[in-house]
Formats: sequence, structure tokens, C-alpha cells
Amino acid sequence: MDASRKPIVVVGSINMDLVARTPTIPLAGQTLIGTGFDTTPGGKGANQAVAAARLGYPVAMVGRVGEDVFGQALVDNLAAAGVDTDAVERVPGPSGVAPILVADNGENSIVVVPGANGLVTPGVVDSHAALLRSAGMVLCQLELPLETVVRTLALCAGAGVPVMLDPAPAAPLPEAIFAQVAWFTPNETEAALYVGPGLPPEDAARQLLARGLQGVVLKRGGEGAYVALADGRAAWVPAFKVQAIDTVGAGDCFNGAFAVALLEGHDPFAAARFASAAAAISVTRRGAQASMPTRAEVEAFLAEHA
Ligand code: RIB
Repeated sequence: MDASRKPIVVVGSINMDLVARTPTIPLAGQTLIGTGFDTTPGGKGANQAVAAARLGYPVAMVGRVGEDVFGQALVDNLAAAGVDTDAVERVPGPSGVAPILVADNGENSIVVVPGANGLVTPGVVDSHAALLRSAGMVLCQLELPLETVVRTLALCAGAGVPVMLDPAPAAPLPEAIFAQVAWFTPNETEAALYVGPGLPPEDAARQLLARGLQGVVLKRGGEGAYVALADGRAAWVPAFKVQAIDTVGAGDCFNGAFAVALLEGHDPFAAARFASAAAAISVTRRGAQASMPTRAEVEAFLAEHA
């Protein structure tokens, strides 16, 4: 690992995505004929790790996969992207899987079956405490047991390491942890769980910041992202217009790229623009980790869209 830069450490989920392409997302009780199927690496944690690593940033992953057919393939895919997998353990039982439907308009619906991700206990985090303390930033999501996320935040708070918490899938959180989060990055439906439905982003961000967060990014897909900081600065960062074919992992791409740009010294609004470019490229490709762009691709895209 590059010793001159403090790594991003992702404490999160690693899934195999089982993706069926379909004309539309079926209604309850409806059967549709699909147009394609892929088995492709995913998991919000692993996706964020790969997004950052593809941009050339040092990244380490803490997590677990199963001793099934998917486990080794998931670890190999992380390593091939440049992620340090020393803290990814194989444990008895199945790996996490995510049956996913992707409709022709790029929208998706996802079910996550945690498998080995459910065995990432607080003790696993404790056993990698030195790695977490060495981080420039720690990235978490909510696909691991909540007590593990809570322990990660407490450990990082004690060590002064900033944490980006992606509250996905949204779940009630202990109030005390908001003060331990540097960046909170919900999408629209996730934000609604914490502030109620239908609030304009400006009001939602204000309410969230009042709970002790240092920064909020409200991810609004094709509309862009609303970035707000505890010091009062706030702005919309519009999305780039592209033809989306698969939005799976786009939010994860944003988070990984946002973390990289922040750690490279960009202000949060410039970092969000960089992340938005990375996410825009990712939705033009199929797959979660398979769609994450390289730095050269993001820089070329930004130059074209200057
Ligand atoms: O955010 C997209 C991811 O959610 C998928 O890769 C799937 O595995 C689930 O974790």
C-alpha cells in the first residue's frame, strides 16, 4: 500500500449480484420474460472500495465472504481492482448475495441476503483496529450488523478518523452516532426515514445537520446532489446528463470517488462534482463493480463536460 497517503478503509458488505434484466420492474404477482442475466460482484461496501481503488487511491477492505462458490471470486475481484484484501476473511457458510432486477430504463430493485456479511461482528472490527486507526477516512454502509457499524464509528471517533456513513439500506440509528459521522450520504428514500417524507433537500439537510453531523450529501440521482456542511456552506451539485442503462452501484461509485477527492484536498463541492462525473460514467455501463471508472476516464469525462 502507498505509505505516503493514508488509506481509505471500507468496513462493509461484499455480495455476489444476481442480476436479471427485464423490460420493467414487475408488480407483485406478475411474471415477466427477462432479457438477460449476469452474476457480477457487488455489495455496497465492496462497490465503494472498488470505486476508490479504480481511481488509484489506496484502499483496504474489512469484511467476510463465505466458503461457497462465490467467496473466492469476490475476493479475487477486489484484489484485481487494487483493494487490499488482507482483512477479508472466508468463513463457513454462504457469501452475501443480492438478487437484482434492472429495468430497460436503468431503474433497479434489490434484495440483499447478508450471508457472511451478517458474521462481521464488532469483534472483527476490533481485530483490525490498527488498520482503522491508520485510515484517512473510513467508509461504512448499513449492510453489516448495526452493532458492528456502531463499534466502527466509536473506534474511529476515538482515533480522530473521519467516517463517511452511507445509510443504505436505511435503518433506525442510535442518536449518539450522528455526532461521530463526518459525511452522511442518503438518497431521497433513505433521507425520508430520518427526517420524514417530502421535505425539500435544503430543509432535510438542515434537520440532519442539527443532529450533530459534520456534512451531508443528499444524493438525488439524475437531479444531482445537495451538499451541506455544519459551517453553513451548502450548494447543489447538478448531475451530468447521460443515457443510463444500469444504475446499480451508482451511489456507491459516488461515495468512493467523493472520499478520494476529499482526501486529495478538494473542497466538498468540487469533490462532489468529481464524484458525480464518476457516477455518471458508471450508469452507462452494466454491473456494480464492473462499471466503476478509472481516473483517466473521469478526467476525460470532466474535460468533455467542462
Ligand atoms: O448499491 C448497490 C448494491 O446494493 C448491489 O451491488 C447489491 O449487492 C447491494 O448491496
